[in-house]
Parts: sequence; C-alpha cells; structure tokens
Amino acid sequence: MPENRRVPFFDYPRLFSSQQDALTSVMTEVLSRGAYIMQKDLREFESAFARFVGCRHAVGVANCTDGLQLALMACGVAPGDEVILPSHTFVATAGAINACGAVPVVVDSGPDHMIDVSTIEAAITEKTRFLMPVQLNGRVADMDPMLKLAAARNLTIVEDAAQALGASYKGKQAGTFGRASAFSFYPAKLLGCFGDGGMVVTDDEAVAAQVTAMRDHGRSPEGRITQWGLNSRLDNVQAAVLHHQFRSYEKTIEHRRGLAQRYDEGLSGIGGLVLPPGPAADPERIDVFQNYEIEGDRRDELKEFLGEHGVGTLIQWGGQPVHAIKELAVRGDAPNTTKIFERCLLLPMNQLLSEADVDHVIAVTREFYDAR
Ligand SMILES: Cc1ncc(COP(=O)(O)O)c(C=O)c1O
Repeated sequence: MPENRRVPFFDYPRLFSSQQDALTSVMTEVLSRGAYIMQKDLREFESAFARFVGCRHAVGVANCTDGLQLALMACGVAPGDEVILPSHTFVATAGAINACGAVPVVVDSGPDHMIDVSTIEAAITEKTRFLMPVQLNGRVADMDPMLKLAAARNLTIVEDAAQALGASYKGKQAGTFGRASAFSFYPAKLLGCFGDGGMVVTDDEAVAAQVTAMRDHGRSPEGRITQWGLNSRLDNVQAAVLHHQFRSYEKTIEHRRGLAQRYDEGLSGIGGLVLPPGPAADPERIDVFQNYEIEGDRRDELKEFLGEHGVGTLIQWGGQPVHAIKELAVRGDAPNTTKIFERCLLLPMNQLLSEADVDHVIAVTREFYDAR
C-alpha cells in the first residue's frame, strides 16, 4: 500500500515560501530603489539570459504570448500570411499568430509528442511564410529536417520555446534555431516568476531593435515614438527575482533530469504505460523536463486513482489541443494528436519535488495497473 503523502501537481505557495527570505530581500532592495520599469535589473537579466542561451540579444517582455507576437512582427509577418505550428500546444501559440492578422495552420505530432516534421510539407501553401515549432515539455523538436525544409521552401522559423529553457539538440539550445524565439516565465515554468513574464531572443540586430522598440510603445532608444507598439515590458522587479533564481538554474535542470530518470526506472515495464524518452535516451538531446507527459491505458481512471492518493496530475491544455477547439476553427488536421489526447497525462514534475514524492507517484501508479 503506498504511503499517505500529498504530491500536488504544482505547489504555488511553496514556490515563494521555500525561498522567502532570499526573495524578500531581492524585492525589498529593488523596490526601495524605486526601480520598477526597465531599469538595470532588467538589463542585467537580459544579458545573463542571452549568454546562457547562446544568442546575441535577449529582450524582456510581459509574457511569452506577446513575445511570439512581437517576434513574428519584427520578422516581417504580414496579414494573411500562414504560419504552421503543431496542434499539441497551448492556444497562446496560435493566438500570437492570430493577433498579427496571420493565419495559424496546425500539423500533427509524433510518438514523442513533438511536431512531426513529415506532416509539414502537405500543409504548405503559396501563403505560408513561417514555421513555429513548439519545443514542448522541455524537449527540442527534430530541427535538422525542419531547418532543411525551411531553407528549401524559404520559410522563416520563429520558435515557441516557452517550455524549453536550457534544452538542447546537437549542442544548440532551444531558442537558437529560429530567426527569433520566445520563452515564458509563467510561475510553473522551468524558470518562473511571480506573475507573468517572457523573453524574446535573437541573433538578428534588426529584429532585436524592433522588439525592443515595440515592447515599449514603439519608442526609439532616444525616447521618441517612431512606430506603433505595445506595452509589453518585463517588470523590473520580476526581472530581479528571475535573475536571482537564474543563478541556480543549472541545479534546477539537474534536479528535474534526476526526477525524470527516477520516473523512467520506476515506471518502466508497466504494460499500459508509454513513457516519454528518458534523460539518457538520445545522446543528441538534453531534455530539461518542463513536463513529464506519459500515455496510459484508462487514463481518466488513472488520473482519478492518483488524485484519491494525493497525487495531482494535469491533462495538458485542459485536454484541448488547438485543432480540437471548435470555436476557433483553426485550419489543419492532427489525427495522431487526437489519439495522444485520449491517453496523455502530466505527472508531477517540478523543482520542489523530492525523490520520495516521485516514489509515491510511482507506487500509486504501479498499484493502479497491478490491481486491474
Ligand atoms: C508551449 C507554450 N506556448 C506559449 C505559452 C504562453 O506563455 P505565457 O503564459 O508566458 O504567455 C505557454 C505557457 O503556458 C506554453 O506552454
């Protein structure tokens, strides 16, 4: 019988209480300086972020959804342009495209739940201008064939790297494959803040300058309004807090990969389960495990059983991949994604979890499949 333990899917209060003293002192210091909007704390965090990801520019924005929109706009998206994205993503990816007056077109995902590059070609029309791969669950998609296809069909890649800070593919980090990319600092993300936050990265000087102006009402470095823009600045206090958390980010990744390895060993061999590729499955990739997304027989019963034993789980996107949101009527098809969503489930995976928490999830899952 598994022990009596509570493993919430994500413990939001603990995100703060586990480091309350350090966070309070960072915030107090910034607030006492009156440094609320676009101050040195933001600039310092942007520089550290760009260095870590391995790109020339990082521009803090209010959230990743705005970041994707600004990245597309800075890369020259025009109304009516078609942008291809996987259906297995948050509606935000499609929403950012729609907000530019462009047309999102979804394609399918493969067995590892990442965009299935072989389904892209058939979705390309004379209006297709961009590919927006989603580096889902802390993993990088198959970028070699995608880069080849993009070059052959003259398409610009803008990456949705919301879930993949620090993930890599063949030695290159998520966020460095596209002309521009965006990351999310939503509280439950790998690097989370205490509200909303995001970052656009790029090697392209002109794109960086455009995003920098557009996130601040279209203002030039001299403070003159030179174009239309938004108010989408990353708050300075959030930037200071993020920079503080970022200093131990390598440890965060190590911890998550350790937990994934534990799940991989503890859950392997259960007939009704399909596990995500483990941390050592592919020498070409470093996964950072934003999520641990399994597929399971009788998924809804499993979810309920885990809940009864104190384990919080989540079906990503509330069970609605983009093509399944009837009200939005997004173009494209994703039959394999439909199948994935009959079986997929996120088990708890975050930096606040202990090995004992993961062992509890494993024990309850084993009991479920052993008993039936
Ligand atoms: C894949 C993906 N894209 C985009 C977003 C949007 O990020 P944000 O909430 O920072 O706008 C998220 C966050 O939930 C996400 O997971």
